[in-house]
Amino acid sequence: MNIILLGPPGAGKGTQAARLVEGRGMRQLSTGDMLRAAVAAQTPIGLEAKAIMDRGELVSDAIVSALIDAELTAMGPGTGAIFDGYPRTAEQAAQLDAILAGHGRRLDRVIELEVDEDELVRRIVGRYSCAKCGAGYHDEFQQPAIPGVCDRCGATEFKRRKDDNEETVRTRMQEYRAKTAPILPLYEARGIVSRVDGMAPIDAVTAAIEDVLAKS
Ligand code: AP5
Ligand code: MG
Repeated sequence: MNIILLGPPGAGKGTQAARLVEGRGMRQLSTGDMLRAAVAAQTPIGLEAKAIMDRGELVSDAIVSALIDAELTAMGPGTGAIFDGYPRTAEQAAQLDAILAGHGRRLDRVIELEVDEDELVRRIVGRYSCAKCGAGYHDEFQQPAIPGVCDRCGATEFKRRKDDNEETVRTRMQEYRAKTAPILPLYEARGIVSRVDGMAPIDAVTAAIEDVLAKS
């Protein structure tokens, strides 16, 4: 099964994708994570993307679609894909259709996480992750069981994203409203969109997504 998790910054795409990876053995394809890895490794793509991401704007369609195509090639057939933060423009949506066809795959479902924008700023500004394994946490909503120690790998170093400040988040929201939200009607016309309440507790959101997938 190949699905898109769609929603504005902080909607919970990454959180829910990680759970689907654990529960269903699917693969998370997050263009944001791929770009951050490229920035950290200072590859040509990373060098080009860094300033754009720091401003909260969108990286070029050609770059992100090439990253997705390469990941699908590396994955091979048989494993389901969760697209997290991709596609983000009408052009990327068209490119994804072509890429999936090239890999003999089809898009089964688009899950929109519905959220309240003011709450998202709170979510994003409080977010951090384990510097070693990447497990996600939040100052208020999702703290490690032992303070300062990662639940998953026991590391004690954590990090915050550079674009997780209020000003950049506002730009990221505007980009979502202007360029990403308009792709939903394209998928609605195909009858493959399901909406999930992204304001519910994390476990409840996961249960709602599982429910959608069980019926797909
Ligand atoms: P990207 O990394 O995709 O960021 P984003 O879309 O802004 O989304 P986030 O990762 O911030 O949020 P999320 O929905 O994953 O939420 P999370 O699960 O972490 O993109 C970053 C940048 O890269 C872009 O701005 C752009 O520059 C570039 N880029 C990436 N893809 C691109 C593309 N396709 N085209 C062009 N440019 C691209 O949750 C947030 C927090 O809330 C966490 O702390 C979590 O613990 C908490 N939380 C989650 N769910 C709940 C809940 N139900 N209740 C309470 N707390 C919750
Ligand atoms: Mg994310």
